[in-house]
Amino acid sequence: MADLRNTFVGIKSPNPFWLASAPPTDKQYNVERAFKAGWGGVVWKTLGEEGPPVVNVNGPRYGAIWGADRRLLGLNNIELITDRPLQINLQEMKAVKMNWPDRALIASIMVPCEEDAWKAILPLVEETGADGIELNFGCPHGMSERGMGAAVGQVPEYVEMVVRWCKQYTRMPVITKLTPNVTDVRKPARAAKHGGTDAVSLINTINSIVSVDLDTFAPVPTVGGKGTHGGYCGPAVKPIALHMVAEIARDPETSGLPISGIGGITTWRDAAEFLALGAGNVQVCTAAMTYGFKIVEEMISGLSNWMDEKGHRTLDDITGRAVRNVTDWQFLNLEYISKARINQELCIKCGRCHIACEDTSHQAITKEKNGVRYFEVMDDECVGCNLCVNVCPVDDCITMEALPIGTVDERTGRVVTGQYANWTTHPNNPMRKGAVEPAE
Ligand SMILES: Cc1cc2nc3c(=O)[nH]c(=O)nc-3n(C[C@H](O)[C@H](O)[C@H](O)COP(=O)(O)O)c2cc1C
Ligand code: SF4
Ligand code: SF4
Repeated sequence: MADLRNTFVGIKSPNPFWLASAPPTDKQYNVERAFKAGWGGVVWKTLGEEGPPVVNVNGPRYGAIWGADRRLLGLNNIELITDRPLQINLQEMKAVKMNWPDRALIASIMVPCEEDAWKAILPLVEETGADGIELNFGCPHGMSERGMGAAVGQVPEYVEMVVRWCKQYTRMPVITKLTPNVTDVRKPARAAKHGGTDAVSLINTINSIVSVDLDTFAPVPTVGGKGTHGGYCGPAVKPIALHMVAEIARDPETSGLPISGIGGITTWRDAAEFLALGAGNVQVCTAAMTYGFKIVEEMISGLSNWMDEKGHRTLDDITGRAVRNVTDWQFLNLEYISKARINQELCIKCGRCHIACEDTSHQAITKEKNGVRYFEVMDDECVGCNLCVNVCPVDDCITMEALPIGTVDERTGRVVTGQYANWTTHPNNPMRKGAVEPAE
């Protein structure tokens, strides 16, 4: 049986599944039910400084996009940090930590970008017995207008400065939560590392307007006739999050820096992908908000079953395994040649592959033979792009097949060599290694 126990920056939890800082972690009642359901840890809903708490809108705070089956694909929110008094949150955190000593309890914090504000809150949090802190440099709305959240996370110098203060004023491990609303996520990650962070977590939510109400001509969610941009999350953001995690994992300046992976994780498979790309554990928000705390049961059993099947005994056997296979485009093998293959027994003759290939560019799939609908790939036109695989509604009906060494690619007339050659040395590349500079 696979061992799912996890240690992240020295913080132990029975499994790698933590709830991300958000409404599901905003009070003792919720967090204790989450722990009962099996979550390995939680990052408490972001705490603000002492004093009157922030005020949320009293109207809709969510917008969404759905798949054709009304399954939630992307969620957008305009919620702020906790709107409960700091002292109540601290008391409840302390009680939870006492009741559940084997689970990870992290305090997410966002206070003004001033040394005294951080210096003041850190001992209060430490006193609760929390295992660590997460610096919320990510929220893209509301708080950023007040100079916090993403307003800090978008400026590497500020990230480094605040991390440094936190490392100076607390013994608790520091996890720096990054905003995806930047051009190059490696820059704030490097800054956090320079400041001494123990880890980074990502992603927070993405700036977004999910839709416009065409009766009122106002963005959704609409509050009193107006809308604003919100933070986007859920399954739709997973690809963006995976890329950002991979960028940090393979950056020589941050490689080895522990990463807590967040963004659209809904199933054990999503989680395994984040781990493979270098995350040391994962955090979940939208999936718990959509399906409830019990989804963790399937995440745990699914991950464990898959690990057993594949012979992975501990999480270390998976973590970072895919990082070495992430490369830059210029290093992809241009001698690798594949063609699409259609399984005629599975084909329902819907024609989607034909029209996609025909109208996209390649005209490589037939639509009839002897007057009847018939879909077959023409190797002399197929560039191996796999668009047809992605549009076909039948699982495994179209597959991609690598041409064996020694065969001729009917499209180019070239023999498949099985060798490796990339753009850096390609004759068409004017910048290729050893290329002769064109005469003036
Ligand atoms: C309603 C809502 C409130 C959130 N509040 C916070 C917050 O207070 N602090 C924070 O760091 N992240 C907050 N987040 C972001 C999540 O922690 C998480 O980073 C993001 O939703 C991506 O994960 P997901 O795709 O699993 O939802 C919030 C997200 C949602 C949907
Ligand atoms: S792989 Fe691309 S080019 Fe080949 S048949 Fe499919 S869609 Fe057409
Ligand atoms: S999309 Fe798939 S099912 Fe439809 S015609 Fe093409 S191969 Fe057949």
